[in-house]
Amino acid sequence: MKFLTPATRNPIDRLNVVGKPTARIEGRLKTTGTATYTYEHHAAVPNAAYGYIVGAGIAKGRIASIDLAQARAAPGVLGIVTADNAGRLGVGQFYVARALAGPEVDHYHQAVAIVVAETFEQARAAGQLVRVQYVKAAGSFDLAKATRTPLPGMDTAAGDFETAFAGAPVTLDQHYTTPDHAHAMMEPHAAIASWKGDKLTLWNAIQLVSWGMRDLPRMLGIPRENIRIVSPYIGGGFGGKASVLADAVLAAVAARLVGRPVKVTLQRHLMFNNTSHRPATIQRIRLGAGRDGKLTAIGHESWSGNLGSLPERATLPTRLLYAGANRITRLRVSHLDLAEGNAMRAPGETPGMMALEVAMDEMAEKLGLDPVAFRILNDTQVDPESPARPFSTRQLVQCLRTGAERFGWDRRNARPGARREGHWLIGIGMAAGIRGGRAMKSAARVRLDRQGRITVETDMTDIGTGSYTIIAQTAAEMMGVGIDRVTVLLGDSAYPESAGSAGQFGAASCTAGVYAACVKLRGLVAKRLGLGSTDIEFSGGRVRAGGTSRPLADAVEAGELQAEDVMEIGELGKQYAQQTFAAHFVEVGVHAGTGEIRVRRMLAVCAAGRIINPLAARSQIIGGMTMGVGAALMEDLVVDKRVGFFVNHDLAGYEVPVHADIPEQEVIFLDEVDPTVGPLKAKGVGELGICGTPAAVANAVYNATGVRVREYPITLDKLLARLPALA
Ligand code: MOS
Repeated sequence: MKFLTPATRNPIDRLNVVGKPTARIEGRLKTTGTATYTYEHHAAVPNAAYGYIVGAGIAKGRIASIDLAQARAAPGVLGIVTADNAGRLGVGQFYVARALAGPEVDHYHQAVAIVVAETFEQARAAGQLVRVQYVKAAGSFDLAKATRTPLPGMDTAAGDFETAFAGAPVTLDQHYTTPDHAHAMMEPHAAIASWKGDKLTLWNAIQLVSWGMRDLPRMLGIPRENIRIVSPYIGGGFGGKASVLADAVLAAVAARLVGRPVKVTLQRHLMFNNTSHRPATIQRIRLGAGRDGKLTAIGHESWSGNLGSLPERATLPTRLLYAGANRITRLRVSHLDLAEGNAMRAPGETPGMMALEVAMDEMAEKLGLDPVAFRILNDTQVDPESPARPFSTRQLVQCLRTGAERFGWDRRNARPGARREGHWLIGIGMAAGIRGGRAMKSAARVRLDRQGRITVETDMTDIGTGSYTIIAQTAAEMMGVGIDRVTVLLGDSAYPESAGSAGQFGAASCTAGVYAACVKLRGLVAKRLGLGSTDIEFSGGRVRAGGTSRPLADAVEAGELQAEDVMEIGELGKQYAQQTFAAHFVEVGVHAGTGEIRVRRMLAVCAAGRIINPLAARSQIIGGMTMGVGAALMEDLVVDKRVGFFVNHDLAGYEVPVHADIPEQEVIFLDEVDPTVGPLKAKGVGELGICGTPAAVANAVYNATGVRVREYPITLDKLLARLPALA
């Protein structure tokens, strides 16, 4: 099926199942510990040996020698893979780092060996006995001192920015920095590799099975037909598990070497330097406006380290968020000898809006305008870089107005540091949020069995987001049955290829694929029942057409029915800017004596197309808001610039917010359908919640204290010296 023109009325619009808050269909499995995560496939792979990755002890240089004698002789050891016996390994298209060092070392904790033993403890103990001699080389670890390289084709311009900026009566020119960030997902990277002859089955915690299927042949040098990837449950990815990484590749190589299945998980302390991270940015924002508050010049330049296959595109949101005739965006990159920088939690938008939306707060103050009113004044309903292209839907103004009202924005004191409760300075702040909301090609297979149950199969993953449930809702709505009649099987390359989980495109894409397959299945049912396929209705377990009504189950008396289809997405995403929007409001307290910052309450008002499952979508937004608080106040993957590694490479040193850090979070979804994205008229919300949140927190801290911190994270040491006197 092709999606070429905006959706018209279709069976989803009945909203018997879609659009209803629905508890996760796999929730019981997860809460009872019986959902099988990658490392737990003991039953499927009962004889797996354990692999333990030894990470490089230098950041840059080469391996002079590796002495494996002691490790080989250690109890239980079955084999050790190093560059000497691994064979030729290629690199992926998405993650571009080499899985195995040797002779060159590209970054700290890059794998130098994987030790395989009968038990995990034996593999770990033997791993400590691997002796590596290195020849160190000088590396580049400091973004601020590295050489900047332009990225061809990534700069944008409209009008004449320099002239407009120079002539604007009110201007702002500021730098903002964001540090490196780690995904810090709960489930560590994990893989089990099992060979039968030249066929590999890989259980892997991976967000996009299809990317793994593309990358593994390149990395291992084997044909795609010989690979099966299985990934039914994933404990969070946040961009860090988009495709296959060293754990998976080395599990496969090690399993081949020892002639047994091998399971590998990355020990937590290795994850931060072995895998990928969100690269730090240095950004400059220039804004120019008339005294009326209308922006006339918008300039955003961002510079980041370590390019994976994608740069950190921090200027993305600036290209679409506000009107203004004269504009530039520029991206620069520096090669650093750190682990690979790559996608993490709304890559681009998150660090970009940490700068832009603080700059907007500063500019509003310069103009003497309320920050909400300033944003409304500069709203645009067309892509400001190509005004002929409208937004498919854009309710940012409605989000801002609703949020301001619900949060009590009118009680804000515009004068910073003016509101106190005892020793606590109280402030509120806000920011806008924007994040792409497109759909991508996605396929599924649907079966109606003789018991009248529907089974959906697709290689889509559920990384904790709720894919299982929205897919069940979609199939139930299309086939006119209750959600309890639907079984969803995900995360297996043996199933039809979906868009996968990333870039906030999962929900709209995978449900579109299921829709297409269901349309086909409905046709098969109609044919079996001898019903015309126009004006046919599937509901309450029955099929009605032309005055007759038959039980759905009648269609499978002569045998089950199965249909498979792919939804191909046309050009509507080029004709329309398809984006999701949010308005974020945050209240903080800052202790006037210690500078301690406490978030007191948060509100997000979102407009993101039809919300397929308001319960799961709310959780997605709350998760994003929580990550936003992390980015604003805590998360800081600190580089030791002398030796070139992330120092705080565990969850004790790398802090993320937990429940106790945020007492109150509310989410409101505005009514919206977006018929240009897909047949469900839905967009994703997986990353929207994080995009504006950090700036809203930063702006609240400023409102509380009068101290503007432009170097994230905003920690108390950056406030202390400048706080107002204790009352
Ligand atoms: Mo996301 S950072 O595109 O998995």
